[in-house]
Amino acid sequence: MSAPQSQVVLQAALTDLLDLGLQAKQAHWNVQGPNFRSVHLELDEVVSSLLGWQDDVAERIAAIGGSPDGRPVTIVQTSQVEPLSSGHLAADLVVKLFASRLDAAARRIEAKLGELDADLPSQDILIGTVAGLDKAAWFFHAQLV
Ligand SMILES: [Fe+2]
Repeated sequence: MSAPQSQVVLQAALTDLLDLGLQAKQAHWNVQGPNFRSVHLELDEVVSSLLGWQDDVAERIAAIGGSPDGRPVTIVQTSQVEPLSSGHLAADLVVKLFASRLDAAARRIEAKLGELDADLPSQDILIGTVAGLDKAAWFFHAQLV
């Protein structure tokens, strides 16, 4: 895969990771109810992880000659993450929403990994990102059994 095609895959991942980070902060501020403290703190751990993955993906785009696009308008127009509703959010609902959103983002990235067989460093970064998203999703899924 040529660098421009790698950039398309990386940019799509970046956009979803940026949206997830914003949504996790929104939920961190708006979560209410039983398990508030646990979910409130867990969301900030997710934000911290997402910041690292965002940076790895964005800087890979730059390293292969592209221009990472982290503008709000790009997130609004191209993110594939399901939107979060405004207002307060019950903690048990937040757990379900983030288990689902993190898993869905991992599956979207995973589905594109085969397109990066000729760009193994980019593929490696996204494989690590998928593993991280899967782990974060598991932390929420484990609260639902
Ligand atoms: Fe906080």
